[in-house]
Amino acid sequence: MFAAAATKVITMQEVSKHIKEEDLWLVINGNVYDVSKFANEHPGGVDTMVAAAGIDGTSDFDGVGHSDSAKKQLITYQIGRVHKADLAAWGKSK
Ligand code: HEM
Repeated sequence: MFAAAATKVITMQEVSKHIKEEDLWLVINGNVYDVSKFANEHPGGVDTMVAAAGIDGTSDFDGVGHSDSAKKQLITYQIGRVHKADLAAWGKSK
């Protein structure tokens, strides 16, 4: 079950529909994370997460210098991946 969720391909078009505090997906290193249930507990606040939603949030996540513990938490929220080409094209269109 986990493997299927982790490898499910999600489009950036779909990701871009989940950009609200209560329905929030993040894309970090090509992986898609549903952080809806975590956003309110995030030590860095909800707003930082909302600001990184609907786009490639990798540089936002990495820029903070998150701890190894924070990086390990990511896997808990993974629901799939985006295609590299999709992500690249999306970035350019923004
Ligand atoms: C699923 C994604 C994320 C997880 C699991 C996560 C987790 C955490 C954790 C555990 C901390 C506490 C410090 C640490 O252990 O490094 C933290 C701090 C922080 N995070 Fe995140 N984070 C995520 C995404 C983001 C994003 C996208 C941003 C956008 C810039 C962000 C901004 C921050 C900031 C600014 C802090 C520092 C808070 C402070 O020390 O005052 N985080 N995050």
